[in-house]
Parts: sequence; C-alpha cells; structure tokens
Amino acid sequence: MRILVTAGPTREHLDPVRFISNRSTGKMGFAIAAAAAAAGHETVLVAGPVSLATPPDVRRVDVVSARDMLNAVEEELPEADALVMCAAVADWRPKTESALKLKKGAMSPVLELEPNPDILRTIAPLKAGRVFVGFAAETGDPVPEAERKLAAKGLDMVVANDVSSPDSGFAVDTNRVTFVFPNGRRTYLPLLTKAEVATRVVAAVEQAVLRASK
Ligand code: PMT
Repeated sequence: MRILVTAGPTREHLDPVRFISNRSTGKMGFAIAAAAAAAGHETVLVAGPVSLATPPDVRRVDVVSARDMLNAVEEELPEADALVMCAAVADWRPKTESALKLKKGAMSPVLELEPNPDILRTIAPLKAGRVFVGFAAETGDPVPEAERKLAAKGLDMVVANDVSSPDSGFAVDTNRVTFVFPNGRRTYLPLLTKAEVATRVVAAVEQAVLRASK
C-alpha cells in the first residue's frame, strides 16, 4: 500500500517573523507515518513546521502554510492508495503578508483574515478508489462533529479526537480517539500512546483499502 500522511500545524505568516498557527507538534501524524512504514507500506509524510526526526523509511515533504500543504498533497496524491489528514491546518490566514517585518506603528490592532482552502474538500474530486481518512479535533464529545465532517468531506473514516483533557490531543504522547465510519459503526479506543493509536489507524486504513479494491 502507498500511504500519504499529513502532520503538524501550518503557519500563516503576517510578515517574516509573525504568524498564526496552533499547538500541533506533529507527534500523532509522525507516529502514523512511522507505523505505516514499519508495516511495510510506501509512506510519504507531508509535514508542517515541527521539530521531530523523520521516521525510518519515510519520505518527508516539508511545508509551511495551508496552501503549501494543499500543493504538496495534490502533487503526492496520484501515487497514493490512502490519505490520512492528521495535520491541524489553519482555517484562516492574514489577508496580507508583508515581505518585510512590519513596524509596530504600521500595524493595525485589528487583523484582517481570509479563509484558507479546505484541503480535504479541494481534493475530494481526485478521490477515485482511494481511501481518505480525516481527523476531528474537538473540545467536548468529538463524535457528533466527526460524523458531520465524515459526510461533509466524503471520507471513509474520521478519527474523532478529544483534545479537552491534558493526556489527549495536542503535544502529549497519549491520545483518546474514536474511529467513526460511514455505516454508523464506531470504534471507541481507550487512552493509548500515540504509537498504539497509529498502529490501529494503519490497520483500519489497510482494511478500508482492501474493501475499496474488491
Ligand atoms: O500534532 P500533535 O501535537 O500530536 O496533535 C495531534 C492532533 C491533535 C493535531 C491530531 O490528533 C488531530 O486531531 N488533527 C486534526 C486537527 C484538526 O485540525 O482538525 P479539524 O477538525 O480542524 O479538521 C478536520 C479535518 O479536516 C482534519 O483531517 C484536517 O486535517 C482537515 N482540514 C482542516 C482544515 C483545512 N483547511 N483543510 C483540511 O483538510
């Protein structure tokens, strides 16, 4: 199987030194790429700005912004059987980006934003027989929002991620997730290490690719 994984945050620059971003460290996505490669799959990892080492046998493409990530995913997707969008992509970017550092006095106290492309929605027409997996990071019960995203983005599975407790979600080594499938099936997982969650995500992707090929 050839698997494409995205990980980490994106950065949306206002000028060369200031940006909008989020708390993603890339740990979850890198663990998925590591598990996929360890299972013998050809693995490409599109990574936002993070400080993690590339897992063995993984080809890594570094990106900065949501638009860079979209371009990289569009470039790599034709070779992939499955895509796992674990990245925390910034939904908004500053309306203007200055090539030079803005002087404090030249800045407005109000930041004007414009929407970034939704990567999963943009590439939906390219899905063909591929398996697409998304994540849904929510404070509070993530399952209802995961179900909405599953339908809205035409996905084969959404990993509903509770990011409200200190041992789950952003930046930690453990995670609490539920797999949500289109037929109403759900798999509730207990608190696990991100490596253990990653192994289960890869196993679910393998099954979905097998089903899609029948
Ligand atoms: O990196 P870590 O510190 O280990 O943290 C892991 C994590 C919490 C970031 C990860 O487990 C996780 O939940 N990732 C998804 C975070 C997220 O941005 O979810 P969302 O609900 O905003 O987005 C839903 C889905 O749409 C995601 O698959 C996302 O990649 C995708 N998306 C979002 C925005 C956008 N413009 N384009 C997209 O394709």
